[in-house]
Amino acid sequence: MRFDIFTLFPEMFQGPVTASILGRAQAQGLVEIALHNPRDVTTDRHHVVDDYPYGGGAGMVMKPEPLFNSVEAVYQGGPIILLSPQGRVFTQAVARELAAEPRVTLLCGHYEGVDERVREHLATDEISIGDFVLTGGELAAMVIVDAVSRLLPGVLAAGSTEEESHTAGLLEYPQYTRPPEFRGWRVPEMLLSGHHAAIARWRRKEALRRTRVRRPDLLAKAELSVSDRKLLAEIEAEDEVHTP
Ligand SMILES: C[S@@+](CC[C@H](N)C(=O)[O-])C[C@H]1O[C@@H](n2cnc3c(N)ncnc32)[C@H](O)[C@@H]1O
Repeated sequence: MRFDIFTLFPEMFQGPVTASILGRAQAQGLVEIALHNPRDVTTDRHHVVDDYPYGGGAGMVMKPEPLFNSVEAVYQGGPIILLSPQGRVFTQAVARELAAEPRVTLLCGHYEGVDERVREHLATDEISIGDFVLTGGELAAMVIVDAVSRLLPGVLAAGSTEEESHTAGLLEYPQYTRPPEFRGWRVPEMLLSGHHAAIARWRRKEALRRTRVRRPDLLAKAELSVSDRKLLAEIEAEDEVHTP
């Protein structure tokens, strides 16, 4: 899969996309990340990429020509996503949708944002990573590249993404590793038992418990099996005992 990222600050991507799993995925040829600076296609003496907003007001607005020209010079299909606090909110479902694309183009705004004609006539989609305002789209692009890349076959060990939070609409069960006892806090005995079916049941129950407490909104939307409903009834009964 290839990401074409258009940014005035390509140096911001050094580190996040070169280290760890993303770095390895690129070295293995599973993910390609191409950074493009719209400033490079400007032809004026000062390489101007932003200007004052029509109508006045604080801050600068990114001009349309450099963005259009730099995208059109390399574009070979796929969604063109404008990173924006006004876009549809990025979720695991959107990450899965993008992971099915062979190419994704990401446009990073900066300053007060981009000229509206980029949104109307260049972008095919607009994505926000949450209801807050960043100084630029670069961090949002990195979040998307990271969340999408780890879903691609071969990037993580097989099975790593199957049971984790948000995959099946629930939060993940608690995870433990060695030592079995740390400062007097023991790992739940069930996990040391070696009974795979009982461990799977314990994990599912804890995932349901966690989601019920922390994200009841997710639980209300999750697809639950008959055995999930039984586990939930057990959890509710246990909680009644523990709540004075
Ligand atoms: C300071 S913001 C501009 C905000 C804009 N003036 C507004 O009120 O909608 C600059 C750039 O950061 C990026 N950005 C800011 N918040 C974002 C978010 N929550 N998700 C994705 N991108 C964001 C966008 O690319 C945006 O053009």
